[in-house]
Amino acid sequence: MFAARRALSGAIQARAFSASARDLSKVTVLGAAGGIGQPLSLLLKLNPRVSDLARVAADISHINTKSKVTGYEPTPSGLASALKGAEIVLIPAGVPRKPGMTRDDLFNTNASIVRDLAKAAAESAPDANILVISNPVNSTVPIVAEIFKKAGVYNPKRLFGVTTLDVVRASRFVSEIKSTDPVDEKIVVVGGHSGVTIVPLFSQSSHPDLVGNPELLQRVQFGGDEVVKAKDGAGSATLSMAMAGARFAESLLKAAQGVKGVVEPTFVDSPLYKDQGVEFFASKVELGPNGVEKILDVGKIDATEQKLLDAALGDLKKNIVKGVSFVAENP
Ligand code: NAD
Ligand code: LMR
Repeated sequence: MFAARRALSGAIQARAFSASARDLSKVTVLGAAGGIGQPLSLLLKLNPRVSDLARVAADISHINTKSKVTGYEPTPSGLASALKGAEIVLIPAGVPRKPGMTRDDLFNTNASIVRDLAKAAAESAPDANILVISNPVNSTVPIVAEIFKKAGVYNPKRLFGVTTLDVVRASRFVSEIKSTDPVDEKIVVVGGHSGVTIVPLFSQSSHPDLVGNPELLQRVQFGGDEVVKAKDGAGSATLSMAMAGARFAESLLKAAQGVKGVVEPTFVDSPLYKDQGVEFFASKVELGPNGVEKILDVGKIDATEQKLLDAALGDLKKNIVKGVSFVAENP
């Protein structure tokens, strides 16, 4: 099943592109030389499903996995080559936070970076699954959607905001409190990817007593700030994000190869709260060969969680509108 050839490609300079692909599919990382991009590319190289890599060639190419390594120049033609034929495009390009900043403070810089990369993807990889990591995710995902719509190639089943890190954190933080193995802590996290838009649903876990635990809620909603503070001006989460991004890419690859029942949390064009004007929402999503197979309902939640969800929806709506307006005003 995994015999097909794949390639990972990238560039050597700061603005780097990296891709991995099999004969009929290819995975591209835009921003491959960054704090996230480097370890993410490493994890993709270590993935046994990937047999052919093209990236920061001299270094990663020495790793003795089957994949072949190639590099792309950070130029428009290099970008087009990295994207051409890609089945998965991961975008961790853009600036990270410094202490005292919110993710929304990154909007002014990252919105145009993501817009321009989305334009290139719409042209060179219109059918790819686009995985947006660049913050603020609640706004950058709508930006990609708008660009794809303008290009006439938007497929809502193939656009994902990567919120996996929120679920990874929730699982880890709960395991620390309960002295359990995080592998067994499947915590549903819905909403978006910033502050109060991150809503963990402990009522649906095996520890409903954790609903209303203020310290835990704070950690899950503001876990990113913990890392920003610890790095003290040197950026935000990179290694845990690389792990989370690699997990999401692996899930998509598995689902594309026919594995059934692959479910990941992700921020997608979602029907769940469209009646409240919220066009994108993170919830559990079943993945398949066509990308989004099924968007799962939020399900039964506690009254305390409902209040958190209401607050999240208010912020989300504004964040989404901001992304949409940006493209309208800065096409
Ligand atoms: P970084 O500064 O270390 O790396 C960013 C990379 O993007 C650099 O290599 C830079 O050269 C490149 N880049 C900048 N402009 C580009 C362009 N126009 N085209 C291509 N590449 C470009 O930052 P990082 O720590 O890797 O973080 C990247 C982004 O990911 C930030 O916006 C950060 O907030 C976000 N992030 C998201 C999550 C999440 O859960 N979704 C988690 C952590 C970080
Ligand atoms: C995170 O959750 O770690 C990322 O979104 C980066 C950040 O700015 O917190």
